[in-house]
Amino acid sequence: MEANIPAQNPPKFFGRRKGRIIHKAKSVLLEKFLPQLKITESTDLTPNKLFNFAVEKMYLEIGFGNGEHLAGQAQSHPEIGFIGAEVFQNGIANLLSLITGIKEGSQISENIELKNTLNDNIRIFDDDIRLLFKRIPDKYFDRVFLLFPDPWPKKRHAARRFINPENLQELARIIKPQGLLRIATDHPVYKSWVLHQMHNSPDFYWTATCGKDWKTPPADWIETKYQRKALREGRRPVFFDYARK
Ligand SMILES: C[S@@+](CC[C@H](N)C(=O)[O-])C[C@H]1O[C@@H](n2cnc3c(N)ncnc32)[C@H](O)[C@@H]1O
Repeated sequence: MEANIPAQNPPKFFGRRKGRIIHKAKSVLLEKFLPQLKITESTDLTPNKLFNFAVEKMYLEIGFGNGEHLAGQAQSHPEIGFIGAEVFQNGIANLLSLITGIKEGSQISENIELKNTLNDNIRIFDDDIRLLFKRIPDKYFDRVFLLFPDPWPKKRHAARRFINPENLQELARIIKPQGLLRIATDHPVYKSWVLHQMHNSPDFYWTATCGKDWKTPPADWIETKYQRKALREGRRPVFFDYARK
């Protein structure tokens, strides 16, 4: 005989019924996934505590923009721990979209876990990297990327340029000897500025031996949004690799 279950009191269902359409994918990504990857005041920065694997090297990308380069590098190097710093929330959401595969209109399960969607080798600092500098131990990073930083080309804004003696001192402190600082730019004012600032730095040397070394993208390069914009607008990017002495 069939059980007579009153229609107004259905049994509770605990399993997954269906995925849900994300209409505001970016805000969902920021709410759901950013807290899992975000570096906060209480985060222990010891590489093997920051990540759930034996970290071979640590890389930093400052101002990762839409995150294409960071996500691509992290996917190619599951053995490396990456910290990405960006203040622009839309960019952070885009990075989260790249590493989770969740886009506008994607259908995802209510129970989706980050660990099922990526190598789990990226942590995000969603603020000005200079606030994190003081917490980073000496000789921590094997490589730092600064790709297409805001050029602030007007002379009166020169103090805002990220490559400056104060930041270079911090970068020299946190990059390991023989570690790499890679700077890409498409702006003529910034190109000369970087060459001048780096020439004056006692801590780094330029690794280029010929024009090809800095006029063409490095072998492991991944195109960024600002690089595409520069090329569309007829500007030639340069790629400066500096090694820590
Ligand atoms: C011109 S965009 C380039 C973005 C990306 N690297 C690319 O190539 O497409 C510079 C980015 O750096 C970020 N940025 C600037 N200063 C920063 C800082 N002190 N800490 C973290 N991010 C910063 C900005 O929010 C911006 O998204």
